[in-house]
Amino acid sequence: MTTAHNSSEEENRYFNDPESGAEMARLIDQDRLITRGMGGLLPERDGKLAGIRRILDIGCGPGGWALEIAFASPDIEVVGFDISRTMIDYASALARVRKIKNVSFHVMDAQQPLNFPDDAFDLVNARFLAFLGPSVWPKLMQECKRITKAGGTIRLTESEWAMTNSSSHEQVYGMFYRAMKQVGQSYSPDGRIYDITPMLGGFLRGIGCRALGHKGKRQNSEENLAERSSVGYADEKSLPDEECFMNCPHCASMATREQSKRTCLGYRIFRCSACQRTFNERTATLFNFLEYPTDIVLLVVLWRLRYKLSLRDLAEMFLERGWEFTHETVRDWEVRFAPLLADQLRTKRRGQASQSWYVDETYVKVHGQWCYLYRAIDRDGNLVDSMLSEKRNMDAAKRFFRQTLETIGHAPERVTTDGHDSYPRAIRETLGRDVLHRTNLYLNNLVEQDHRGIKQRYYPMRGFGNFASAAHFCRALAQQRDLFRQRLDTFKALVLRA
Ligand SMILES: C[S@@+](CC[C@H](N)C(=O)[O-])C[C@H]1O[C@@H](n2cnc3c(N)ncnc32)[C@H](O)[C@@H]1O
Repeated sequence: MTTAHNSSEEENRYFNDPESGAEMARLIDQDRLITRGMGGLLPERDGKLAGIRRILDIGCGPGGWALEIAFASPDIEVVGFDISRTMIDYASALARVRKIKNVSFHVMDAQQPLNFPDDAFDLVNARFLAFLGPSVWPKLMQECKRITKAGGTIRLTESEWAMTNSSSHEQVYGMFYRAMKQVGQSYSPDGRIYDITPMLGGFLRGIGCRALGHKGKRQNSEENLAERSSVGYADEKSLPDEECFMNCPHCASMATREQSKRTCLGYRIFRCSACQRTFNERTATLFNFLEYPTDIVLLVVLWRLRYKLSLRDLAEMFLERGWEFTHETVRDWEVRFAPLLADQLRTKRRGQASQSWYVDETYVKVHGQWCYLYRAIDRDGNLVDSMLSEKRNMDAAKRFFRQTLETIGHAPERVTTDGHDSYPRAIRETLGRDVLHRTNLYLNNLVEQDHRGIKQRYYPMRGFGNFASAAHFCRALAQQRDLFRQRLDTFKALVLRA
């Protein structure tokens, strides 16, 4: 086993020499065979790339996969990087010779923070990077999350290499796996195989990917390639035609099997054949061990945010329907699940605001003190963001604008405010100098009227006990109002059309 050159302080973990011509020739062949064996460049999408504008290939080697994607889809910008200068020079030369203009290649180290801005790609591809080992993968996944747009896809392909009909080949593999185990780059408990493939689902879940899909492929044995390739891909869309799996929440293995029994609330039960433990759909979630179905709990929280109902009102209303819990339980659910609901709704609003924002603050009483609820909506009344602050100053205004940028993902062209002193500089320094700042009392009427909804809901509560719970409540309230507003608009449009 040779160690590759060092491009950074941390030793590179690749077990071949990435600058060698032989390794490049091997990767060129491997790329061709794997793409054929898997049934195309993106077999899980049937080659369809609707909505995708930028793709990244991590550890792209001689660039075969990236070049083919770029060639097939001239409208998509494809970027590849690798630690090897030789591979990158070869891939760039090939792009020039083939006149493929929408692809670029860079030398970069996947073990270090990646030199790309946040939310830069719609699809991030990482194939055969198992060698990075358990200490690097979590960091790389965090970087993937950072550079992938919300709703984008992270695609992982790995294989176990053990299948061969040659005993000497098997021996070599055995030695290789043991060596990897000894240097801490294997996931296998006993070092007999790599065991990377069962980890992929857990990696994706670990960074919060939602709709996971899995595609397994048994390769043609004549080609003597991997026995099992595993593609993990995650995005916000559901993938109805693909097999959906439930990773083991204890050991992250994908080797799980659904049991015929269900929990007393009707949730599916699974058994993991790797660690022999059973778990159900709610294990390792915030809803684990709740004695009530998830939808009932969320409905209680949603109604609490939406309507002027006291904790006791809600307990009483659900008792009428056969669900028995106390007002303290409602309080507990509100604290635990309102932030969850708000976060879910917030991520859905990325890119959902127009170019004209209206910003204003309103007052909320917390423990006898007035606090400031910063709110921004767009020209059509869609929520941009809201943030509760103890102070009304430059720092709070900047924090608010930074948060809006994080939520929406782009700066507006115009911002209208009531003209408070802190706004001009806060807008300039956080949203950019090009943003037009308008200050007009009448123009800002839109957002001032919009505060009424919040005030109406909060008056009967006669203020909040502490700042943290007030901040959570106001945030969840704003998100929930936006959700209902859009639904009611759609409903009204349907009624008018009917
Ligand atoms: C097994 S090859 C996979 C190549 C390509 N992804 C494919 O599927 O054909 C691993 C590649 O990762 C590159 N590599 C090794 N260490 C790296 C690192 N720290 N950062 C980026 N690339 C690295 C190697 O040069 C090599 O091209």
